[in-house]
Parts: sequence; structure tokens; C-alpha cells
Amino acid sequence: MSNDAIDSGRRTWIGIACGAGALGTVATAVPFVSSFSPSERAKAAGAPVEVDISAIRAGEMATVEWRGKPVWIMRRTPEQIASLKKTDALVADPDSKRKPDELTPEYARNEHRSRKPELLVAVGICTHLGCSPSAKLEAGPQPSLPDDWQGGFLCPCHGSLFDLAGRVYKNKPAPDNLEVPPYMYLSDGRLLIGEDKKA
Ligand code: FES
Repeated sequence: MSNDAIDSGRRTWIGIACGAGALGTVATAVPFVSSFSPSERAKAAGAPVEVDISAIRAGEMATVEWRGKPVWIMRRTPEQIASLKKTDALVADPDSKRKPDELTPEYARNEHRSRKPELLVAVGICTHLGCSPSAKLEAGPQPSLPDDWQGGFLCPCHGSLFDLAGRVYKNKPAPDNLEVPPYMYLSDGRLLIGEDKKA
């Protein structure tokens, strides 16, 4: 997992900024990509990314890069999975019915938005204007969050909130849930991100 980073929720995706800043990042990314090795270029262009998830413990999250985007992989605890029942009523699209072809593959159109309940795989880019939300995985009252916070993600740019399945809270600027990329399990400990069918 060479480019991967495991943390407990404090990592942010460097290089994706709010508003006009995001445009600058995209523009400068092009020459950078051309200096990659052939395999790195293929990866940047969209090749699937294989990830060893065996070291991600319950409650931890890793970030990997796929198509130049941060993809979060989080192993939810049983309590965190149970919290999704509580946030059902708070989120705008609990069953991921909006833009399903774009945002939620069929196998993730469920309460936990994932193939296996414990593992969240989601693109860490806010569906409002493209900032990277911060992980706020601890439940309970804290600054900028509701008192009954169950754990999830806060977009610092305009305050959108997402639960631990990447479902956007109601009445927030972000219109949609976070994107779930195509992915599949190669084994219990290995994921392939960017592809969900065997060739
Ligand atoms: S970019 Fe505006 S709330 Fe996330």
C-alpha cells in the first residue's frame, strides 16, 4: 500500500481545495502527470488500484488515490454500522436513489452503501464544490457538529455533513451523497478499486 496512509480521521487530501483553488490544482496537475513512469501514468489515467486492506483496523481509515481522486477506505466498528440506523432519518437520500448510475453502484445501494457492511469505500470529494471533507469519526457533541453527532465527515468549505456511509445530511449545500467508486474484493484482505467485474 505504497501511497496509502492510514489514520484515525485527521488526514485531509492535499491538493484539492475549495472553489477557484481547485481549478488551479487541476491545471497544474497535467505536467506533473507527464513525469510519471508508464505504470504511474496508467494509474493516473484510470487504471484500477489494488489495495491491501488487511492492516486497516476497526475504526480506522485509509486514503488511496484513484484517477487522481482520494478514495477513503474505512473499516466501521459494529457501533458505527449501527449508527447508520440513527442517521437514516437525518440524511437527504438514505437509499441512494439520486443519480444511482453516477454515485452508487448497485451493490452499494443499501443502508451502509457498501459490499460488506463493515467496509466503506467512497470518493472523498464533496458533491457541492469539490472540497475534501474532514473525517470526524468520533460520535458526540463537538464544534461545528450537531449534538447528536454519530460520527461522519464535515466539509469545511460550506458545512455539509455526511454520515459514516457518505450520505449527505438534509438541508446542506451538498446535493448528493459521496460517490462510491466501482470496486471488488480480490480476497478478504485485498480490494480492487476502479473495477467491479471480472474481465
Ligand atoms: S464544497 Fe461546499 S460544502 Fe463541500
